[in-house]
Amino acid sequence: MNQKPLYQKIASHYQEAIESGALKPGQRLPSLREMTRAHGISLSTAVQACRALEETGWLEARARSGNFVRNTAHAGHHQTHELGLGTERTDQLDELLSIDAILAAARHSKVDVDLSAASCAPHLYPASELRKLAVAVMRGAPDILASSAHPLGNLAFRQAVAHRMLKRGVQVSPQSVIVNHGASEGLALALRAVARPGDAVLLESPTYYGIRQLLETFGVRSVELPTSAQCGLVVEAVEFALRETSRVVAVVNMPTLHNPTGSTMPNEARERLVSLCESHNIALIEDDVYADLHPNVLKLRPQKYWDRNGIVIYCSSFNKTLSPGFRLGWMLGGRWHATIEALSMVQSRPKEELQQRVVARFLESGSYDRHIQHVRENIWRQRQTVAALVKDAFPDGTYVHDTRAGLSMWVKLPASVSSRRLFRRALENRIRVLPGAIFSSSTYFDSYIRLGCGWPLDDERRRAISKVGQLCQDC
Ligand SMILES: Cc1ncc(COP(=O)(O)O)c(C=O)c1O
Repeated sequence: MNQKPLYQKIASHYQEAIESGALKPGQRLPSLREMTRAHGISLSTAVQACRALEETGWLEARARSGNFVRNTAHAGHHQTHELGLGTERTDQLDELLSIDAILAAARHSKVDVDLSAASCAPHLYPASELRKLAVAVMRGAPDILASSAHPLGNLAFRQAVAHRMLKRGVQVSPQSVIVNHGASEGLALALRAVARPGDAVLLESPTYYGIRQLLETFGVRSVELPTSAQCGLVVEAVEFALRETSRVVAVVNMPTLHNPTGSTMPNEARERLVSLCESHNIALIEDDVYADLHPNVLKLRPQKYWDRNGIVIYCSSFNKTLSPGFRLGWMLGGRWHATIEALSMVQSRPKEELQQRVVARFLESGSYDRHIQHVRENIWRQRQTVAALVKDAFPDGTYVHDTRAGLSMWVKLPASVSSRRLFRRALENRIRVLPGAIFSSSTYFDSYIRLGCGWPLDDERRRAISKVGQLCQDC
């Protein structure tokens, strides 16, 4: 067998580290002596490995200083490597069916304009106020970063959350609030608590792709149900599915500012859905991450409001509305509270205290309400501009579901346009959009795209939207 000599294996090891970016240009490689210890090799093998790397242009030896990753070789190589990854993935996209593959292609490709994100531009989040609060919290508790957080979460934060729910008509105790890293974690915990492999969960169609990914990972069957782009999940469809489907353990929905359609369920439909789930004794997992962005949030009751028997698991977070960088969310586990609390400890231990204390102060001072009002106004304006640009630049037959609030806009393209192909062509033009295909397991939404509305429309963004419109012609 043609085995690689040992020195070449060692050289490949460092070459791969340079290619992956683990060793950066200008960074010093371990000394020869360190290499001998790390790999259990002789000094001469270490010398041979370094010489091979030098000859192939990966490193330069500097007298009396050691071996360093070469600036030019690495920079050039690294760039083509990254572009290569993007091109390679996008070239295959017509064949890619899985959500993971599409999202990975989106993540790995370098773009100039990201039209896909359902979050706000950084300047719309109150970074400087949060920074000041963080400093004040750290001054008051100098050991906060050196101490373990409370295993059940910071009480002031849980109180502030309970207080906020009270404003929406729901009476919950601070003790029933489970702190987590965001609605993604909340949804995962909820599904782990209620569903086993082979069980079925009823979903909206289209739905947030993250829920589909979770169900796939857990081996849980998903049944997608008709969902109105104005009024959300159709309760009659849930009724029908409950009669026709075996082993249904839960319904998951986003009653306010649904992702991707932006729909909002009327209170009366929410109440009927809660009763229906109650009569079938199944969980209703309520994903409410965008609710605060709705101008009528205080009139829209969370489904939790009608929950008499603890069947509603409520998930929310501050990652969309206040600080994507904090990764702070929370949930109400209903009758699964104890199971979820235990699963949460197993999964991610106590949650960071600093964020919780900062957000507690921000909520209680009234700053959150002012901030949210400001964000809503900006988003409202941005949505109008996005809708106008789409109407101008997209082909006839395009339809914009303009729900006037929320971070995403759901755009139906002419039926002949493949959103998968459009996604790929947009990436080739360094623009990211999200294809409708990832929001459903059916092909029904293949000619839809989701556009983010959280960013102001500067010239570059305007041009990007127009470009996507033009690209529709050959997709
Ligand atoms: C409907 C919905 N739920 C949950 C999440 C995840 O939220 P978080 O960032 O709080 O984990 C998202 C993120 O895009 C979402 O759109």
